[in-house]
Amino acid sequence: MRETVGVIGLGAMGLGIAQVFAQAGHPVQATDGVEAVRDSASGRLAAALAGRGGLGKKHGGGGAKGGAGVAVLGPQTGVYRAAQVTVVAPDHGFAGTAMVVEAVVEDLAVKRAILGALAASGAVLATNTSSLSVGAIAAGVATPGRVIGLHFFNPAPAMRLVELVAHRGADPAALALARRLAEGAGKVVVACPDRPGFIVNRCARPYYGEALALLEEGRDPREVDAAMMAAGYRLGPFALIDLIGADVNLSATEGVRAAMDGHPRYHVFDALRAQVRTGRLGRKTGEGFVTGTDPVPPPADAAAIVLRIEAALANEAASLLAEGAVTAEGIDTALKLGLNFPRGAFGAARAQGLDLVRDELLRLEGAAPAHLAGRYAPVPGWGLLPDAHDADPS
Ligand code: NAI
Repeated sequence: MRETVGVIGLGAMGLGIAQVFAQAGHPVQATDGVEAVRDSASGRLAAALAGRGGLGKKHGGGGAKGGAGVAVLGPQTGVYRAAQVTVVAPDHGFAGTAMVVEAVVEDLAVKRAILGALAASGAVLATNTSSLSVGAIAAGVATPGRVIGLHFFNPAPAMRLVELVAHRGADPAALALARRLAEGAGKVVVACPDRPGFIVNRCARPYYGEALALLEEGRDPREVDAAMMAAGYRLGPFALIDLIGADVNLSATEGVRAAMDGHPRYHVFDALRAQVRTGRLGRKTGEGFVTGTDPVPPPADAAAIVLRIEAALANEAASLLAEGAVTAEGIDTALKLGLNFPRGAFGAARAQGLDLVRDELLRLEGAAPAHLAGRYAPVPGWGLLPDAHDADPS
């Protein structure tokens, strides 16, 4: 019998995380603070699992409710490895659960309270936070060593990447258990430090930021996107902002910028603020940087655009690498799986040539306008890169 996994918060992420572990054969106990969300969870999960030949298909859709606020989705079966998913009451103690993953609202006090109430359960307490410090959450829990970050991407069943976040006091056994359970559920787990934005949300910033810098210099966003797509990127930076939503992108950028003491590498460009101010958020409003426009062919200087953006990506990745608790290979894997990049930041820099990339950073720094001074200076960790790759080929 596989270990039981608990999930708290059954919104977009929590429901997907419950599905991930259920599909891997774990009994899952799941809850949400809102009754209507708990009530609809059974049907939503059954529908999702049915799509994969799971519970719903073999057991007629499940969703039958038991007593005392408990809903049970279908019986466990060894033949189909279908997991029993139980929707439990919010005050369920999760005793006997190997790990509980919280995916409630992004609020430090709420997450501390939710995980703090489970200190006696003995479970590993995982948070799916995307922007809070895992250490800060752990500091509010009586068993901080058992608190770890387990950052899934949306949609959790489809996205293979999980960032495993270790704060300073994290218990290695708790980290190992979380890794084993996530890998057993088919995820690629990348260890990362408890730093703002973790890997993907931080190392992706230059992809958008450098494109916005080019826009500020008068470039057509469609040309920037065409250059990146011709180099193998599935979506150009502006199309990606439009897909995510300019509002979401702005708030992520502002969050990392504030947490990194306003360093110019995380400059928030006026053009992004203007998109939000004017409601041109991208696909969800039907109008964005490139949404609703016709694509154009790559410009004559497409290679220079790609070099510039990949140089900025490599510098950011090198800065994170120098902070420790992460490998170059881990960063590249995270960028490929988390953003569908054709190559990671270091892989791209190696393909361009590390010396060329460094020269490009120095060129950009020399030409930077006053409000971006210091943005492109090669980070101190830059000199470590060749060694890092010799030791850790990716
Ligand atoms: P959501 O708003 O879809 O779902 C949150 C759920 O938590 C709601 O159903 C709500 O009723 C429930 N909830 C709120 N307070 C609660 C409490 N005190 N007790 C029990 N349940 C409570 O949010 P979403 O998008 O699923 O995000 C959840 C977490 O996952 C957040 O920390 C977010 O930062 C993180 N995350 C979100 C990603 C995304 O793309 N949406 C990606 C990765 C992480």
